[in-house]
Amino acid sequence: MMCCAHGAEGLVKEQIAREGWRLAFSRPGFVTAKHDQPRQSPTGVFIRTTAKSLGSAKGDHSSQLIEKLKAAIADETVAFDQLHVWPRDRTAIGKFDFEPGIDEVSAAVADEIFHGLNDLHVATGVTPILKCTEPNQIAESGERVLDVVLVDPSQWFFGMHDANTLPTRWPGGVQPVQPAYEPISRAYFKAAESIAWSGFDMRPGDLAVEVGSAPGGACGRLLEMGMDVIGVDPAEMDPRINNHPRFIHYPARAGDLPRRVFRGAKWLLVDSTVKPDATLSTVRNMVDSRETDFRGLLITMKLGQYDNAENLNRWCDFIRSWGVKRLEVRQLARNRCEVCAAVTV
Ligand SMILES: C[S@@+](CC[C@H](N)C(=O)[O-])C[C@H]1O[C@@H](n2cnc3c(N)ncnc32)[C@H](O)[C@@H]1O
Repeated sequence: MMCCAHGAEGLVKEQIAREGWRLAFSRPGFVTAKHDQPRQSPTGVFIRTTAKSLGSAKGDHSSQLIEKLKAAIADETVAFDQLHVWPRDRTAIGKFDFEPGIDEVSAAVADEIFHGLNDLHVATGVTPILKCTEPNQIAESGERVLDVVLVDPSQWFFGMHDANTLPTRWPGGVQPVQPAYEPISRAYFKAAESIAWSGFDMRPGDLAVEVGSAPGGACGRLLEMGMDVIGVDPAEMDPRINNHPRFIHYPARAGDLPRRVFRGAKWLLVDSTVKPDATLSTVRNMVDSRETDFRGLLITMKLGQYDNAENLNRWCDFIRSWGVKRLEVRQLARNRCEVCAAVTV
């Protein structure tokens, strides 16, 4: 069973059908499938979470659903290290201010399930079925996670996955972030997620550039991490960012600035409302210059509509043609109809 952004399920289905999966139950933001051969659960650009299904239950009372969950895991001989409970995305990210992740209902249900499983043990002995002390904790790498997806509050899907990469350790694949200050825009969370997911070794004192920086959510995150930051955007920055002693604003379009402005910068974030072809051509010019020495790029590629994902391979080939060391692409949990490319130069 897989979760993705509301609207991206068509792309997920196309991808996994090509890999020989037979589609089963699905809803916007949620896809299940079967395979005739033993297979690892699918992964891909638009797949936010993936788990081996353990069954599902429908009913009006959570106590009934918890009984069905207990029955579904009654034969498990190995305890679960973590319990993750989250809702499928109920609408497109950003629409009506919707943000993915654990909402009030799923937090309450998570507590109920956690307490409901209190008296359950593994099939072969006296070990409690859950090892965690509360639900929805970040899993350690290698931990075994019991997943419950609220496809609707009255319809739950059960599954399990082994945590390894960062997004598989986060409940529902959504990074839990506690901002130090009120973020200036939701791009704060998107930047935080892209930085964590990329694994880039960004350190205090590094110089980072953001193209498409206004009003300044992402720059706020970079400044909070102790970096020196250059923001490039014809639009105005929020004064809380503009007045920061480690911030410089160039009120211009990225393509119009001389490359020497970016001398000494290690990291480049791009979040401008520009089509990917034009964005990538600007980034190539910035990277492919003797004046610059970027180590890592986090490029938001705005799809506009999901049909445009058909261009992804072409965009990736173009990035690879710069001779980069590593390229990974993912629709981050906090991405709207867009994907993030993490590029090690
Ligand atoms: C989604 S907003 C960026 C949000 C921002 N990253 C934040 O953290 O708050 C997109 C921005 O791209 C800017 N933009 C559009 N074309 C641009 C270009 N060619 N160069 C730089 N910025 C551009 C727009 O002015 C707009 O402020």
